[in-house]
Amino acid sequence: MSFPQHRPRRLRQSPAVRRLVRETHLAPSQLVLPMFVREGISEPSPISSMPGVVQHSLDSLRRAAADAADAGVGGLMLFGVPAVRDSRGSGADDPRGILNVATEALVAEVGDALVVQTDLCLDEFTDHGHCGVLDAQGRVDNDATLERYASMALAQARAGSALLGLSGMMDGQTAHVRAALDAEGFTDTMILAYSAKYAGAFYGPFREAVDSQLVGDRRTYQLDPANGREGVREALLDAEEGADIVMVKPAMPYLDVLAEVRASVDIPVWAYQVSGEYAMIEAAAAHGWIDRRRAIEESLLGIRRAGADAILTYWAVEAARWLRDTP
Ligand code: PBG
Repeated sequence: MSFPQHRPRRLRQSPAVRRLVRETHLAPSQLVLPMFVREGISEPSPISSMPGVVQHSLDSLRRAAADAADAGVGGLMLFGVPAVRDSRGSGADDPRGILNVATEALVAEVGDALVVQTDLCLDEFTDHGHCGVLDAQGRVDNDATLERYASMALAQARAGSALLGLSGMMDGQTAHVRAALDAEGFTDTMILAYSAKYAGAFYGPFREAVDSQLVGDRRTYQLDPANGREGVREALLDAEEGADIVMVKPAMPYLDVLAEVRASVDIPVWAYQVSGEYAMIEAAAAHGWIDRRRAIEESLLGIRRAGADAILTYWAVEAARWLRDTP
């Protein structure tokens, strides 16, 4: 009888050994919670396609942020849902606009415990739902949009946001926003560039979360799901333009891009586990088709393993508590 020469199973023989040889670890500090705050409501409003996620009132936002800080998450990413929209997204750079008001409130509440971050994009604030302003032909005008982003960046920095999440996919946005911040003395305000952001189906529930007005799609500015190299190129450009952190989004369908970006830049790389990824697991679990907790943990671990230094996830608080209780 001949015995196998190699026995990889030796390293799997008990929980103690498996724990000792584990390659990838998740920590609460590596999780960032996206949060929605809606202007003019006094009670949180559920988002039907994202069970467990709500549009917050200012009060419930404060309480939820304190709870997230208590769970030890690394940061919060804030999205605003304004009561009124117009073609240039005026609410975005208005200091009394909902996102800026909420940012100020959160920085006062939890700014020492975690990193308060803001989505820097016009789509929540425009009446046409695009991420930029439109030209006379109705196309998204790249360079005119950069001016709006610069103004938004200053409003967010003044409100106290520590990290601006540039999610609009305009060319040159990182360099433009960096220059605008520096010129006003905000040299410490960090930039998270959503570098490889793909135009796909997985943002569906988010559109409900922010009451999106979009008709059509974002394919002239977000990436074609077929293109991996182009995602890496975008990340390299953003790093060169001064991004402090680059991101790949969505996460699970783009793990190859994530791994490639991680190997190509020397700054932190994050991933956004988006609304559709959340909704899929919640829906399957609600049917009893998969084990909810194990599926969530496996999805987060897979994203980490592929190269994400941190993950934006709607499960951030729950997962942080699991990690604390059973690391
Ligand atoms: C744009 C933005 C979007 C998301 C984050 N920032 C929507 C889009 O690009 O269509 C999606 C996040 C999610 O689906 O969870 N402001």
